[in-house]
Amino acid sequence: MIEENTTIELATHSDASEIAMLSRDLIEQGLSWSWNTERVKKAMRDRSTNVAVARDGSILAGFGIMKYGDKHANLNLLAVKKEYRRTGTGTKIVRWHERVASTAGVFNIYLQVRDQNTIAQDFYSKLGYVVLDKIPGYYKHKEVGVIMFRHIGVNRNAT
Ligand SMILES: CC(C)(COP(=O)(O)OP(=O)(O)OC[C@H]1O[C@@H](n2cnc3c(N)ncnc32)[C@H](O)[C@@H]1OP(=O)(O)O)[C@@H](O)C(=O)NCCC(=O)NCCS
Repeated sequence: MIEENTTIELATHSDASEIAMLSRDLIEQGLSWSWNTERVKKAMRDRSTNVAVARDGSILAGFGIMKYGDKHANLNLLAVKKEYRRTGTGTKIVRWHERVASTAGVFNIYLQVRDQNTIAQDFYSKLGYVVLDKIPGYYKHKEVGVIMFRHIGVNRNAT
């Protein structure tokens, strides 16, 4: 049994290939692989994007990528390794991004989930996200995309 002892921090370039492979294997399976190592590195260099990782010591337990706009942010990717699931790690990653977004003045967070991924939809519902729309063919013209969002408000105490 893995203890709930992961910490969340910004990823480094040396995490990029592992993040890309986790995206390929845990998120993009059955679709063509779009989040390769170069794309993850590009996201790390993008000033309006945060790539966060959950670490258990030297082990990368999961990651989440969020892109921030003026009033809205989008959670582009999120995955937790199987052995770390149901330990609160996914929740920690999402809440970390939400805190950053709120401090930056973002009101709403959007995300997209594959229609058949009911586990992720249940997970996001538990975190307060609601279904906004369902878009046929959203994923490579193959699969329905479920658009979810949460109004998070703004941290007015932020400096
Ligand atoms: C979705 C995912 C990120 C959840 O990560 P996690 O670390 O297991 O989530 P948490 O432990 O924080 O779970 C929080 C709550 O979500 C719900 N939940 C999580 N996994 C669930 C599951 N398999 N079945 C039902 N509810 C689930 C539960 O209510 C859970 O609370 P509980 O454990 O107290 O019952 C993880 O399953 C995952 O990586 N899946 C593959 C990639 C993916 O689908 N990413 C999202 C789309 S990009």
